[in-house]
Amino acid sequence: MQINRAKSKKSNSNPVLPSSVKMRNSRVSSKKPSLLTRTLYLILLFAVSIFIFLMFSKDIFEDEQTPIFYSDSESDSHLHHQSEQIRSPAHFVDEQSPASTFSRGLRPCIKPTAKYKVARESNRYLTVKSNGGLNQMRTGIADMVAVARVMNATLVIPNLDKRSFWQDSSVFGDIFDELHFMRSLQQDVRIVKELPRLLETVPRARKHFGSWSGMNYYENMTHLWKEYQVIHVPKSDSRLANNDLPLDIQRLRCRALYHALRFSPPIELLGKRLVERLRSRGGQYIALHLRYEKDMLAFTGCTYGLSDAESEELRIMRESTHHWKIKKINSTEQRNAGLCPLTPREVGIFIKALGYPPSMLIYIAAGEIYGGARRLSELTLRFPNVVFKETLATQDELKAFSHHATQTAAIDYIISVESDVFISSHSGNMARAVEGHRRFLEHRKTITPDRKSLIEVFDKLDSGQLEEGPSVSNIVKKMHRNRQGYPRKRSGPPLGIKGRARFRYEESFYQNPYPECICKSQDHL
Ligand SMILES: *[C@@H]1O[C@H](CO)[C@@H](O)[C@H](O)[C@H]1NC(C)=O
Ligand SMILES: *[C@@H]1O[C@H](CO)[C@@H](O)[C@H](O)[C@H]1NC(C)=O
Ligand SMILES: *[C@@H]1O[C@H](CO)[C@@H](O)[C@H](O)[C@H]1NC(C)=O
Repeated sequence: MQINRAKSKKSNSNPVLPSSVKMRNSRVSSKKPSLLTRTLYLILLFAVSIFIFLMFSKDIFEDEQTPIFYSDSESDSHLHHQSEQIRSPAHFVDEQSPASTFSRGLRPCIKPTAKYKVARESNRYLTVKSNGGLNQMRTGIADMVAVARVMNATLVIPNLDKRSFWQDSSVFGDIFDELHFMRSLQQDVRIVKELPRLLETVPRARKHFGSWSGMNYYENMTHLWKEYQVIHVPKSDSRLANNDLPLDIQRLRCRALYHALRFSPPIELLGKRLVERLRSRGGQYIALHLRYEKDMLAFTGCTYGLSDAESEELRIMRESTHHWKIKKINSTEQRNAGLCPLTPREVGIFIKALGYPPSMLIYIAAGEIYGGARRLSELTLRFPNVVFKETLATQDELKAFSHHATQTAAIDYIISVESDVFISSHSGNMARAVEGHRRFLEHRKTITPDRKSLIEVFDKLDSGQLEEGPSVSNIVKKMHRNRQGYPRKRSGPPLGIKGRARFRYEESFYQNPYPECICKSQDHL
């Protein structure tokens, strides 16, 4: 109707207009479409720019689910509270980053999904012997919690490894808060202190679960329940795949590792106290996992910079350690491939090149440094403010933990997770576990040295092609621009690896629990 009327009006008016008006009118009418086009063009441009803005501002990984209420608020608030308390507002001298975290609004998210069911009682039992050092055991136990859940089993508090070269007689309750472990997972898995007496004598299935196994594997393993009421697992490390597991199982692993496996009260207390002591000294500190220990050097066959006598000592240790399979190692080739722990001197050059001032407080999270004070002086020359737990704590405070390598490692772990910057001189279970935990805690800064590229720089320094100073600093900073623990999704297997072997080479779930346990969410914890 309206269109018709307008049309008729137009056709009516045109013939009676004087030519001048007609002309103006035609000019106006020829202008009119171009105005309209421009308006449309502007609207389109606006729409496109809004679209582009939305595309880019939207985080690539989103919280995939709406969490339901999960009654583990006690341990949640504990963790939150603890980390808030310890982390004083940092006075940052770090020139590369104004803050100690790269969270970008990403937070831990470990609540189960809406379809998650509270665990039922089960009269089938899983007994576990946890192997390895502290962090191998921790991640292995977290895996076993998930396996018990998948297999509908009651988990018996794991036995810890006492035979590894850690030679530690500690039991579970010495290292972890046992009651807290059982309570905080009560919705997920039933956990008991001991196997019921009646079952102690029944035959058990002794099962070495396949490494990096998925859901199908463990669901299939429930056929063992037809014959047995107890399954014994003699080895707990890396039994569960990193990827392609249900979201609820992945989050359970995070709840187990980051909340349930809290250290025992004496360890937590001393760890916290030492963190406070470090903070009172300088405000911020680097935790350096200086893995320059005898066993690591012997195992990796890295003798760069060592005397002949030292190299010989390490060779003998390697030859005589039965479970180290590789005996003949060419140290030069090993080092060039980036497989050697950085030496104290190399670490010193590295941290200096990153731009940290000589006054920087550095906590050494490690056991005994091979070569002792003499070798360490190559680091303290550049950074005199180097402290160990032995210099930070009193003898009295440490007395209860000496001769318990696992417990002192736990103290190092706490101090490393809480540090402003974490740097590891070598990759390994501790470095991976701390990195993952720091990613989980809003991406605290974690610098991973690119050892292979750094060796080239160090060799040029040795041969005089380069000199320590701004140019080396620029090279090293550029090299590590993307190695500081920024949020990124866990990487899958490297290209070109087929079959089951690929699971071994995937990035570890516990090194980077993103995206499953880290989300952009309002009600995160
Ligand atoms: C575990 O128990 C639940 C419920 O009791 C059942 O639906 C599920 O199939 C069981 N899983 C296995 C692997 O037996
Ligand atoms: C399940 O386990 C049995 C016994 O170990 C094995 O023979 C079978 O191939 C497995 N099935 C699957 C689907 O893995
Ligand atoms: C170790 O490897 C380097 C580089 O490939 C080579 O030059 C050297 O001769 C090797 N040393 C021994 C003892 O084989």
